[in-house]
Amino acid sequence: MGLPLYLRAWLTTAGLAADPFGFSGGLGPIPLDQRPEGGTGWMASADCGDCHPAQLRQWNDSRHHRAFTNDLFQAGLIAEPMAFCVNCHAPTAPQVAEVLPNLPAYAALAPRGVPGPVPALLPEPRAADGVGCAACHLRDGAVLSAGPEAPAAPHPIRIEPSFGTAAACRACHQFLAPDRPSAPRWWMQSTWAEWQISVPDGDPDCLDCHMKGGDHAMTGAHDLERLRGALEVRPVPGGLRLTAQGVGHRLPTGDLFRAITVEIARGEAVPAASARAEGWEELWRAGRRFSAVEGPDGALHKQPIEDSRLWPDQPVFVPLPDQPGLSWRVRYHYGAPHDLLRGLAPLEAWVLTLSDGRLPLPSR
Ligand code: HEC
Ligand code: HEC
Ligand code: HEC
Ligand code: HEC
Ligand code: HEC
Repeated sequence: MGLPLYLRAWLTTAGLAADPFGFSGGLGPIPLDQRPEGGTGWMASADCGDCHPAQLRQWNDSRHHRAFTNDLFQAGLIAEPMAFCVNCHAPTAPQVAEVLPNLPAYAALAPRGVPGPVPALLPEPRAADGVGCAACHLRDGAVLSAGPEAPAAPHPIRIEPSFGTAAACRACHQFLAPDRPSAPRWWMQSTWAEWQISVPDGDPDCLDCHMKGGDHAMTGAHDLERLRGALEVRPVPGGLRLTAQGVGHRLPTGDLFRAITVEIARGEAVPAASARAEGWEELWRAGRRFSAVEGPDGALHKQPIEDSRLWPDQPVFVPLPDQPGLSWRVRYHYGAPHDLLRGLAPLEAWVLTLSDGRLPLPSR
């Protein structure tokens, strides 16, 4: 398996400061205003799309497009209204500048938010572009491309062959939690390092699986067909065998609160497909767990204490009680139980049933 994760992770931190494409891992916005001709540098995705309609169409329905406006991120920003979050979910300087004055208004929307009148949100049309064309492609007035030369282009092009590889995804999909005084840093997301371990020769890379034929939809866990296909659930004697397949990193990967659970119900319970949990008992969970640790400064810091997510092609056996008539279901969680309790987004946005069934299990 090569270098251990923590060593690879350390190497990645060293690399972050010098990301060749200017992604900061949330430390700052992506500057767009260094063009020789001046100006704000802002260019909406629709403006690029006038001449690149195919990429615009694919990107339009993508999570990158919805990175700022989707319910789950909005709930996250209300709970933790930090510039850090905006630096990645609406990452260019003109977008961040639009959102920063609104952060107190976001904070005031939290269920236990600051008391008093809620400040009005300003319009955020630029932020609504999420991770748009300019965030990935536009640098110093030139358009980043993996090549080849495009002499017909009406705009300057900077050719960087490594832009056509995982290097173009790394600094946004591998980053540290925000710096807090005297707390050790940990990886908030580590998809790139997980990929390095799962696919040591680098083939396939992120683009082979997520951007086939240049497809800018770049789907992942919000593509239900892709998600369901990534987890094989097989009833076997004594329980269920779960295998992550066709993934190039852990399952779940990405956001820190993603999880997969195996649940059982006896008798009265909400239907297996329901987003509700009444009558269901959680038997097993693959995900990350955190605890609050008091730092030397007296403040509480979140620290990872366990990581039980699946690795590709390494089956895990989950025993089930031997009771005919018992129902089971396997669910994917986009957020943590505390997210559900805050009620900032509909329940259906947080959790999804991947498969379900009923005992008896096959016998030997
Ligand atoms: C360095 C970039 C970066 C920073 C900084 C960052 N995120 Fe994210 N965030 C991502 C990426 C990449 C994903 C996609 C991974 C995934 O889908 O699980 C993501 C996914 C999410 C999701 C899940 C969205 C969905 O559609 O399911 C939420 C919620 C979220 N982030 C909230 C936050 C909040 C709140 C902060 C600030 C505390 C933050 N993020 C900071 C990159 C970032
Ligand atoms: C998340 C980053 C990201 C976003 C957002 C993005 N691109 Fe790309 N784009 C890439 C990468 C990486 C490549 C290189 C793929 C390759 O050459 O194999 C690329 C390639 C291209 C190409 C070359 C042809 C092709 O499809 O491979 C065009 C044209 C293009 N992008 C236009 C756009 C436009 C227009 C938008 C906005 C609607 C956009 N891109 C949004 C990352 C992005
Ligand atoms: C006025 C029309 C126009 C606009 C606006 C425009 N482009 Fe282009 N772009 C072109 C043309 C024409 C080419 C050359 C296409 C070719 O040679 O096949 C090109 C080439 C490219 C390439 C090189 C890959 C390729 O297709 O050959 C990328 C990447 C790209 N554009 C991205 C963008 C992005 C991102 C934006 C917005 C910031 C943008 N373009 C705005 C017309 C435009
Ligand atoms: C500028 C930062 C940035 C870059 C660069 C970037 N991403 Fe993302 N990506 C994000 C954010 C933020 C999200 C979370 C969107 C959301 O809130 O759902 C995300 C989400 C995703 C998802 C999850 C989609 C889903 O359906 O859940 C995939 C897959 C993905 N990115 C692939 C890529 C690939 C492949 C590349 C490299 C070509 C890349 N990203 C480059 C910021 C980035
Ligand atoms: C062998 C194919 C493969 C490779 C290589 C691969 N992925 Fe994935 N990825 C998947 C599949 C399948 C899913 C859907 C299941 C899941 O959520 O893990 C996925 C999901 C994701 C998600 C969504 C996670 C979430 O919580 O919503 C992100 C983000 C992502 N991949 C980013 C990347 C990045 C960045 C790379 C490269 C460093 C990469 N992937 C390499 C197949 C792959």
